[in-house]
This record gives sequence, structure tokens and C-alpha cells, in this order.
Amino acid sequence: MRIAMIGTGYVGLVSGVCFSDFGHDVVCVDKDAGKIARLERGEVPIFEPGLDTLLAKNVEAGRLSFTLDLAEALKGTEAVFIAVGTPTRRGDGHADLTYVMAAAREIAETAKGPLTIVTKSTVPVGTNREVAEAVREVNPDLDFDVASNPEFLREGAALDDFMRPDRVVVGVESARAADVMAEIYRPLFLRDFPIVTTDLESAEMIKYAANAFLATKITFINEIAALCEKTGADVREVAKGMGLDGRIGNKFLHAGPGYGGSCFPKDTSALARIGQDFASPMTITETVIEVNERVKRRMIEKLRDLCDGSFNGKKIAVLGVTFKPNTDDMRDAPSLTIVPALIGGGADVHAVDPEGQREGEALLPHVVWEADAYSACKGADLVVILTEWNEFRALDLDRIASCMATAKMADLRNIYDAERASAAGFGAYVSVGRRPFP
Ligand code: UGA
Repeated sequence: MRIAMIGTGYVGLVSGVCFSDFGHDVVCVDKDAGKIARLERGEVPIFEPGLDTLLAKNVEAGRLSFTLDLAEALKGTEAVFIAVGTPTRRGDGHADLTYVMAAAREIAETAKGPLTIVTKSTVPVGTNREVAEAVREVNPDLDFDVASNPEFLREGAALDDFMRPDRVVVGVESARAADVMAEIYRPLFLRDFPIVTTDLESAEMIKYAANAFLATKITFINEIAALCEKTGADVREVAKGMGLDGRIGNKFLHAGPGYGGSCFPKDTSALARIGQDFASPMTITETVIEVNERVKRRMIEKLRDLCDGSFNGKKIAVLGVTFKPNTDDMRDAPSLTIVPALIGGGADVHAVDPEGQREGEALLPHVVWEADAYSACKGADLVVILTEWNEFRALDLDRIASCMATAKMADLRNIYDAERASAAGFGAYVSVGRRPFP
């Protein structure tokens, strides 16, 4: 099947590449000429493990191409996906639908039909109907259906999530759209991955409910972690004991410095707004948003305590600035709250991140960027592990402790433990939800 993908951001590019790997003919469209030129040269503008190889393979096979020209992309196409950004609208927390609706109108102006217009961008309940109305308004003669197909990819594991999903969610209103979507996802259906076919509104709601639930789960364990610290319990043991209950599950129960990224903060905020708009308050989600902010601020106080009450004049090594490992994405990363507080308090921050430096340089002024953890820790008063990149999981702690001015560690991802830190020569070690040392 020939598919057009509008938007070569994270979701659009990963989906386009993976659909072409299924054997479909995919044309990715974007308005950004620089981006299209880079993609045509085989350069991938985002960091996602394996994406460059899969892209090259499918371009080589003649199944994947890139263009600025929507009309060209829509020629002979049975399905067009809208995968443009839906950022949080400034001021009110709503999802900004400007790009989605603009894409819908452009499709209407250009398409000849019959066509299924599939929204992959995360959009509030009711948006697919608005897309249909907008298309009908611009081109009343167009023979088209709409479909909602939210994505559940995790950055850093996106290819695996796409190729081996827990489920695919498809919202449709007509048998014809259902058939088109079934054909697109046939390779997954044949391998018994569940395809949930539902109505448009439910599909839209599933996406927000799933992300808000996961954000709630993380926030719950983060709040339990704070209580563990006060009571002497160990949050890792607590999470393990809880997670073995099949009804709870052990995933997304890692306590840390708060969730970040391009999805949870944006989608929880949008869901809260949808609740307000429909006079059906999302009280739990609203609380989760508030508690997550509190979690990040709690980390700052933890670090301040380790610095004897003041960051002033302290050299602090920060390991990891991206919101999680295996991405260069820093959107809403806890580092954006924590690092400025250190610098604002007078600390000299030396940071290292395997992929985050380029974004970090723009977003975190006054940080000194180092090549590796050892150079960052040289002469430091405190080392803070903010992101659990693999290369920070097996550090030579003896070497780190011996090169620091005062060997103190804040392990905000619970990678190490007090015994190990103490044996390596650290004088102080704190983590999240576990007993500190000394
Ligand atoms: C998330 C969802 O996991 C995907 O299913 C969804 O498709 C995606 O949002 C989206 O809506 O596009 P992502 O933002 O890439 O994916 O990252 P996650 O792996 O979910 O992590 C989000 C944040 O939660 C990170 O800051 C991470 O460090 C934090 N986290 C995650 C924890 O603090 N503890 C955990 O146990 C798990």
C-alpha cells in the first residue's frame, strides 16, 4: 500500500520508516526544507537507536522517500497520516492543534481521493471529527474517511515498540477505513499482536488515559519514595514487593527525579484541560502534575543538604541531562529544573551527557561540558547522577571518589547503593527512597 506521512518529527519519522519496513511504499512530507534535504542524504535528525540503519535499508529498497511536495506524496495514496506536533498551548495547557488542522486543510486542498486520513498526533477527544469537518468544508467532493491511530512509542526504544507493540489502537467509523487500517497493520496482525479497533473518541481517549496512568504510577512511587526516606524503608524493595502482584506489575515503578519528556508533561496537562472543559475534573491527573513538580524541587533540597546548606562556590558534576537515556531529547527534563537551581545558588556545574550536550548547550547556560564522567568529577564537591545512561551504570567508583575534592554522590536514579559508595571511598551517598550514608 502507498502511504503518505505528514511530519518527520519523532513519531512521523519512526512510523514512516517502520511502515516502509513492513513493505509499504511510504512518502514522508515535511515543510522544513533543511530536514528533507538531510533525510534525502540519509541523515537522521533525531537520535534513536537503529533508525538510521532501517531508514537507509528502506530508501535503498525504493520503499521510502522524502519530499516537500504534499501533492506529489498524495498521488496514488490510500492513507495519509498526520503526525505533526501538538505542543502545549501557551497559557492554558491545551494541546495546540494548529499544525494538525493546517495539515487536514492542506490534504483537503490537494487530495483526489478516495483516502483515509489518519491522525497519529496525540489529539484531544473530538479532534478526528473536527478534522473530518475541516476537510469537508474545504473540499466537499472528496471521498474520504478519518481514523485515529495514537502511538505508544517510547523514545530510545521506538523501533522495538513499533515492531513489537503491546497493542495497536485504531479508531474508525466506517468499514472501509477499518479495512485500510487492517491492511496497513497486517504484518503485526499476522504475528498476533493485538489490534484494538474502536470508535474515534475511545481511541483518542485511550492515548491520554494510558499516558496519564503511567505518569500517575511513576508519581505514586516517587511519593512513596519520599515516605520511605522518612521511615527507613527501601523503595526498591517496596516496588519489587508491589510489582510482583500481577494486578500492579513491576514496570514504571522506578523512583527517580520526576518524569519528563515530550509526552507525559504535555499529555497530563492536556487531559486536565479536557476534564475542565467537560466539567469532569481530572483531579488525580491534576495532582500528579503538581506532585511531579514537587518531586523535582525535593531533589534540589536533597542536593542542597549534601552541600551543607549552600551551593555557593561548590563544583558539582552532573551525569546526564536528557529526560531519560538513549535520547537527545531534553524536553521537560528534570535537569532543566535542577541544574539552573544549582547554578543560581552559585555552583560551578560540569556536565556530561552522551547525546544531550548539543541541546544542553542551548538550554543550560553557564554549564561547562565535559567529555566523560571522570573529567566532570575532577575536583568536584558532589557528583549527581541525573540520567541512567548505560555508561554511568558501571563507573569505576574508586577512581571517581579519589579524584573529587569531597567525595559525595547523589544517585537520583538508584543505580548504586550506600555500601558500594562507602567501600569506594565516598564520604556521603544519597539516592531516592533509600537510606542515605552516613
Ligand atoms: C511515553 C510512553 O511511555 C509511551 O508509551 C508513549 O508513546 C510516549 O510517552 C508518547 O506519548 O509519545 P517516553 O516519553 O518516550 O514515552 O518515555 P518513558 O520511557 O515513558 O519515560 C517518561 C519519563 O518517566 C522519563 O522521564 C523517565 O525517566 C520517567 N520514568 C519512567 C521514571 O521516572 N520511572 C519509571 O519507572 C519509568
